[in-house]
Amino acid sequence: MNSENVSLNTEIEISNLFKDHADGNCLSRSFYTSRAIYERDIERFWNASWIWVGHTSQLPNAGDFFLFEYGNESIIIVRDRDKEINAFLNVCKHRGSRICLEQNGNRRLFVCPYHAWTYELNGDLRSAREMGPNFNSNKFSLLKANVRIFYGLIFVCTANIPPNIELGLAKLAPLVAPFQLENLKIAHSATYTVPANWKLAVENYMECYHCAPSHKEYAKSHSIKDPEHLTKDLINALQEKSLGVGLKSEIISLNTFSDDVSKMDFYHRRYPLFEGYLTGSRSGKPIAPLLGCLSGFDGGATDLQVGILNNFLIYSDYMVGYRFIPRELQKTDMEIVWFVKADAVEDKHYNKTELTWLWDVTSQDDERIIRLNQKGVNSYFYSPGPLSTMEWGISAFYADYLSKLVSDS
Ligand code: FES
Ligand SMILES: [Fe+2]
Repeated sequence: MNSENVSLNTEIEISNLFKDHADGNCLSRSFYTSRAIYERDIERFWNASWIWVGHTSQLPNAGDFFLFEYGNESIIIVRDRDKEINAFLNVCKHRGSRICLEQNGNRRLFVCPYHAWTYELNGDLRSAREMGPNFNSNKFSLLKANVRIFYGLIFVCTANIPPNIELGLAKLAPLVAPFQLENLKIAHSATYTVPANWKLAVENYMECYHCAPSHKEYAKSHSIKDPEHLTKDLINALQEKSLGVGLKSEIISLNTFSDDVSKMDFYHRRYPLFEGYLTGSRSGKPIAPLLGCLSGFDGGATDLQVGILNNFLIYSDYMVGYRFIPRELQKTDMEIVWFVKADAVEDKHYNKTELTWLWDVTSQDDERIIRLNQKGVNSYFYSPGPLSTMEWGISAFYADYLSKLVSDS
C-alpha cells in the first residue's frame, strides 16, 4: 500500500487520531504516513519549537550567514554590522521568492533574485524599485525569527510567542559552563539521510533501549545502555572524579510541558563510561584536547537536551550535536556535528577519522534501524505497541508533540 494514500484532510479525522492515542504506547500509523499530519508537524511543532541551528563560530564576521532549512521553511542566520546574530525567514516580502540560495557565505546585503528588492543584514528593506510615491519600505522588513544563544549554541524559533527557554537554560548554565562551549569549533559534520518520518528519528534518539542490541561499538563503552550497569558505586565514583576535574554531574530533568505548552524539556546528566574509557573513542584513550577549563578526564559523558529537538553528548575532549530534520513525509536528515576546542589543530591535536569513528558507525546503525522501523510502520498490520520503562524519553516527546499539534496556532 502506498503510504501517501492515507488521506487525513479534515480536522475531525486528525483530532480523532489524538483521542485514540493511548498513553504509554507508540503513535498510530497515520502519524508517520499522512501528508496532512506531516504538514501540521511543520506548522504546529517545528514552527513553534526552539531549534538548534548552529554555532557562533560559523559566523565570525559581519555579513557571515548560513541557511537552516526544514520542511518547506528556510531561515537565514546572519551576523549584522553591529555583530548581532539575527535570523530571518528566507521569504521575500514582495511576492515571496526565496531570497538567498547559497547555503552559507558572506554578504553586505541580501538581494532578491526575482525583482531585486534589497535587504540589510538586520532584515530591513533598503530599496525596492518602482513602488510608487506612497510606498513605505519600513513595513516590509523580513520576518524575524527569535534567536537565543547559549554558550555559542544558536537556537532559533519562528513562533510569535516562543516557548519559555529561559527557565531551563538558567538551570543548565552552571552545569554546562565548565565546558566553555562558546570556545569550540566544528571539526566535522555529516548528514545521514534516512527514508523515514522525522518522528521515528527523534524517538530513536530519545531512548537507549536499542543501544545494547543495535550499537555494538557504543555499547562497549557507554554504561547508559543498561540501567543495571549504573550502580550506585559507579555513580558515586564518577561524581567524585567529576568534581575533581571541575564538573558537576547533577541530573536535571525538566519535563515541564505536559500540561503547559509554553514550557519545554531540558535534561542534563553526566554518566560513567565503562572502565578503561576516558572518552568516546575506539581505544578509550583521549582523542582531542580537554574542553573548557577541565583539569582532567573523569571518564564520564554528559547527555544534554535543550528543548526536545536539540541534543548534545559532551565527552571531556569533544562534543557531538544531533539534529533530525524533516525534508519530506518519509525523508529525514540526521545531521551529526563534531566539535572540538577552538584552538585544536587537525592532525596535530586530533585526527578526524578517530574523532568521528564512534558516532559515524553509531549513526550508520541508527540509519538502518530507523529505516526498518518505518518499513514496518508502513505495513497495514502495524499497531502501536507499549513503550519500555527505558523509553520514557519518547513519552516526554509525545507529550510536547501532541500538545503542540492540538493547540490553536
Ligand atoms: S519576489 Fe522578491 S523582489 Fe519580487
Ligand atoms: Fe541509536
